[in-house]
Amino acid sequence: MKIDDKESYVITIIMAAGKGSRMKTQKSKLVHKIYDKELVKRVAEIAKSVGSDEIVTVVGHLREQVQDVLGDSVKYVYQDELLGTGHAVMQAKKYLEGKKGKAIILYGDVPILRTQTLKNLVSKSIKNKEYATLLTAIYENPTGYGRIIRDEGGNIKAIVEEKDADPLQKKIKEINSGIYCFDIEELLNSLDEIKPDNSQGEYYLTDVIRIMNERGLKTGAVIVEDNTEILGVNDRAQLELLTRVLRMRINAEHMKKGVTIEDANATYIYDDVNIGVDTVIHPNTTIKSGVTIGDNCEIGPNAYIREGCKIGNNVKVGNFVELKKTKVGDRTKVPHFIYLGDCEVGEDSNIGCGTITCNYDGKHKHKTVIGNRTFIGSNVNLVAPVTIGDDALIAAGSTITDDIPSDFMGIARERQINKKRKKKEE
Ligand code: UD1
Ligand code: MG
Repeated sequence: MKIDDKESYVITIIMAAGKGSRMKTQKSKLVHKIYDKELVKRVAEIAKSVGSDEIVTVVGHLREQVQDVLGDSVKYVYQDELLGTGHAVMQAKKYLEGKKGKAIILYGDVPILRTQTLKNLVSKSIKNKEYATLLTAIYENPTGYGRIIRDEGGNIKAIVEEKDADPLQKKIKEINSGIYCFDIEELLNSLDEIKPDNSQGEYYLTDVIRIMNERGLKTGAVIVEDNTEILGVNDRAQLELLTRVLRMRINAEHMKKGVTIEDANATYIYDDVNIGVDTVIHPNTTIKSGVTIGDNCEIGPNAYIREGCKIGNNVKVGNFVELKKTKVGDRTKVPHFIYLGDCEVGEDSNIGCGTITCNYDGKHKHKTVIGNRTFIGSNVNLVAPVTIGDDALIAAGSTITDDIPSDFMGIARERQINKKRKKKEE
């Protein structure tokens, strides 16, 4: 990993052996999702994006589920008995031994940490030649967290857990996030010395800080600016909270880039979405990962734009419209009550209200291609695979099963007959 133009070996250890009982789940807590991505996958992606040379995940409870999600993108070590955070890191010993560089510690259930924050942590650690650099935060209510003990000079001396803290220590507002950057060799040396002689009978990783200090090794900290970054998921309410925080963070990014969002509380834009300037998003719109939307579009309210969609410029996608794996050309209107799946629509077309692609035959998905300047009447069923040429027109209420060539009109519906009503006998 390259940091400040210097090459340093970085290994990231993701702690993911905990039980997560408060989640009240039959699944591993770590495979629950924020938007469409599992908590532990988000953490693995943070580790990757910071430039880790190697990622090791400590798994235990329901390990198969975590392994299913992460596959062979990371290495695994097993912690069968949960004897504490220090014990968890010890399980990764074989990946640390003989290496020179930095070890980052992340929690599998702390999923919305910013890559930049982690980069700053590693970079400070290298620059200041610290053997341990902690990510800390200032909490008005620090209950439950490990407290950061500093001396008069502000140097970090130790971390004291809530359950071991005296009343004075409990008043300290600087807390340990549990995210660290360690010197690999000195981490190993200190790990060998930690003992479970505390109120919980656990091997505390936090003891490493005290041990390093006793050995005269320099330690330090970075205080996180945005406290929401270090939030963890222990129960469903926290899962909702973190989803909300991420939602507001993503929406704010889009607004910064020139997108109008009418109600950021009611707009659900997943990760890795691209939206052009002057596009307006109306409420209750969901836009899934990887979607691209051009400039000056109008989206929603109540639009659902799913995976694999690419929308051009000046497009209108209106209310109760669902799009999946669909391309929409510039200036095309898809205004209301429409489902397009596996579809390509050209430019300057108009898709009538109630139009749907019948893209699935029960076994396979089929494609619908609609040309430029077409006019699709209301309530049209497009039975895929089917191709509609440029400048074609489809009469309202048609069920289209055959291709329509360019400049042709297709009509496929029963002819109406009007029958005289019988008069009621008086
Ligand atoms: C830990 C820190 C505390 C910090 C807090 C931040 C220690 C001793 N204390 O507290 O200073 O303020 O995190 O949230 O480290 N895990 C394992 N195996 C274990 C134990 C834990 O994999 O044997 C994993 C858990 O799944 C979790 C993480 O490590 O992801 C932290 O464990 P948790 O029990 O929540 O930490 P705390 O004791 O609350
Ligand atoms: Mg604990």
